[in-house]
Amino acid sequence: MTSLFDPIRFGDISAANRIVMAPMARNRAGPGQVPTSLMATYYEQRASAGLIVSEATQISADDKEHLDTPGIYSDEQRAGWRRVTGAVHAKGGRIVLQLWHLGRIWPASLQQYGQPPLSSTERRTNRRTFAVKELEVFSEPLALRLDELPHIVIEYRQAARNAIDAGFDGVEVHCANGHLLDQFLRHSTNPRRDIYGGPKENRARLPLEVINAIVAEIGAGRTGLRLSPVSPVNFVKQDSDAQSLFNYFVEQLASLKLAFIHVIEGATGGPRDVAPFDYAALRSRFKRCNEQGAWIVNNGYTRAMAIEAIASGEADMVAFGKPFISNPDLVNRLRLDAPLAALNSDYLHRGGAIGYIDYPTLNL
Ligand SMILES: Cc1cc2nc3c(=O)[nH]c(=O)nc-3n(C[C@H](O)[C@H](O)[C@H](O)COP(=O)(O)O)c2cc1C
Repeated sequence: MTSLFDPIRFGDISAANRIVMAPMARNRAGPGQVPTSLMATYYEQRASAGLIVSEATQISADDKEHLDTPGIYSDEQRAGWRRVTGAVHAKGGRIVLQLWHLGRIWPASLQQYGQPPLSSTERRTNRRTFAVKELEVFSEPLALRLDELPHIVIEYRQAARNAIDAGFDGVEVHCANGHLLDQFLRHSTNPRRDIYGGPKENRARLPLEVINAIVAEIGAGRTGLRLSPVSPVNFVKQDSDAQSLFNYFVEQLASLKLAFIHVIEGATGGPRDVAPFDYAALRSRFKRCNEQGAWIVNNGYTRAMAIEAIASGEADMVAFGKPFISNPDLVNRLRLDAPLAALNSDYLHRGGAIGYIDYPTLNL
């Protein structure tokens, strides 16, 4: 029977165990959205994960300055990330970069020139986010024009190349959590009347073009993606055809033989049963002609749930988010069934070293 602690090879990546550190924005990048040595220490401390998925990282200067989140579009950012990947590799870890375009989920005040965010839609969400000094409403987005979409694909492709140049083992394309590619996938945020809106085949078009372009650039064995089929996070609504949309999307990806698909089950960071969804239907479509690709599951997993998911074959790897923040040695603690340290949520998105690199490891 396969164990959570067994090694695994998926695509071009070999991992020491099946425990994944989920991507988590921690807002500790320096000026110019450059990864810092503090970030290198943070990731190095967690390198015993079979795979680390980095925090969401902006692919382009047109989508930047999201309150100290890192980017992957400048030479300085690449150099900063090289420190991170070097530190993780020196400890025997593996790390992929999460490629991120926010779409409509930010206020123009965070932009270099105060320009509106780009999205699938001109529909704004009236929700607020913490911007430069205070809470601000997200700005009215500009719906990307047909002639602008090829540029978005090129930016993703270049970002994937930059990630490999910065020493990452691969990339995770962020198609989840109500960000740009998820905005295209969902009915509620995609009212377009062109070939990128309407039926599911059209809504899946941009994410598929992005993934195909990345595969052409860095190879399928280093490319994965993240989905959150029913998560309402970041103000996307539940699609009436979520199952057929995501079945179709994963079917289109099957022949590419991607390294992995990473699925958030339920509401991100919330109830796992927020809406009915047959994840096994996605998994079987992904595995049909790609037995070696890893099916990674996430959201609210405990040790017992993770052990069971691997033993039963429902998943190849299990991603943990919050437990990895407060337990840099999470793999060891899970192996020993040791108690987990509690999370201090005051410092999730601020605080420098505090609540970031100061969580203790087990004193063995
Ligand atoms: C502080 C924080 C930041 C997060 N940032 C990201 C992110 O950058 N990209 C992403 O896909 N998910 C992000 N998430 C969601 C997590 O990856 C994960 O899906 C969620 O925490 C549920 O997993 P858990 O129950 O093991 O914590 C974030 C979650 C937290 C708590």
